[in-house]
Amino acid sequence: MISVVILGAGNVASHLFKAFYNAEGVTVKQWYNRHIKSIQSFHADVPLTDDLSELSEADIYILAVSDDAVSELSSKLPFENRLVVHTSGSVSIHDIDKKHRRGVFYPLQTFSRSADIDFSEVPICLETLDKADYHILKTLATSITQHTKRVNSEQRASLHLAAVFVNNFTNQLYRIAQEITESKSAEFDLLKPLILETARKIQELSPYRAQTGPAKRHDKSTIKKHLKLLDNEHHEAIYKLLTQSIQKTHGR
Ligand SMILES: NC(=O)c1ccc[n+]([C@@H]2O[C@H](COP(=O)([O-])OP(=O)(O)OC[C@H]3O[C@@H](n4cnc5c(N)ncnc54)[C@H](OP(=O)(O)O)[C@@H]3O)[C@@H](O)[C@H]2O)c1
Repeated sequence: MISVVILGAGNVASHLFKAFYNAEGVTVKQWYNRHIKSIQSFHADVPLTDDLSELSEADIYILAVSDDAVSELSSKLPFENRLVVHTSGSVSIHDIDKKHRRGVFYPLQTFSRSADIDFSEVPICLETLDKADYHILKTLATSITQHTKRVNSEQRASLHLAAVFVNNFTNQLYRIAQEITESKSAEFDLLKPLILETARKIQELSPYRAQTGPAKRHDKSTIKKHLKLLDNEHHEAIYKLLTQSIQKTHGR
């Protein structure tokens, strides 16, 4: 049985709590947040605290807090030589205070507190400084997911950067598409099957092979029509930049 203490109460911490609470072979010994109000409703399920000096002894301490809080919070922990991990894609493992055994437990997914998530499908990227700690962390991760991967800091930084492209930037493009359709009272919902198929298709084809559309075809007249239809200069700039990017990739 692996014991964990979760620190933080945001999007990631609340999903991790639910996943570990229901997992075999894991006990959530305690849940810490600096403002106890955010976790008060769980008081019947797990011991809670907002006081670092009251932290229980556990095998692993998971800092699921804002990126810029990892370093300071880790140095405030009133113990040393225990396994302390953070959940960030972009924070260095070395940002955790060196008085601890250090690791990273980065779930490569987008989490919102209010949206359900099936953790068994979430890849968890693991990193430790010590080999024995890797095995403990891997055992913890496999209690909630089938997908674990040893990833070094450089690889994690590139995955996090790539995640911004596939998730945040793509989502912003959905938002722009919604503004474009709503401006003409067309239904954004009609695009949803296309959105799903775009994501499904790259499970089988490489993004290179899956590309279609006027930019790839170098269809100048359609591109010209689209640019004329755009009445927002910001959207026009994005259209031009992405068209250039596709044409650079696909050439003639
Ligand atoms: N959201 C995602 O999709 C996602 C995905 C993968 C990894 N991550 C990573 O997971 C970590 C948490 O992200 P999140 O989205 O769960 O963040 P979040 O929802 O913004 O929650 C941040 C948590 O950190 C706590 N916190 C902030 N500053 C603190 C400080 N100085 N001392 C102690 N606690 C502090 C907050 O406490 P209060 O509640 O008291 O304000 C809150 O509980 C980050 O490293 C993030 O990069 C996020």
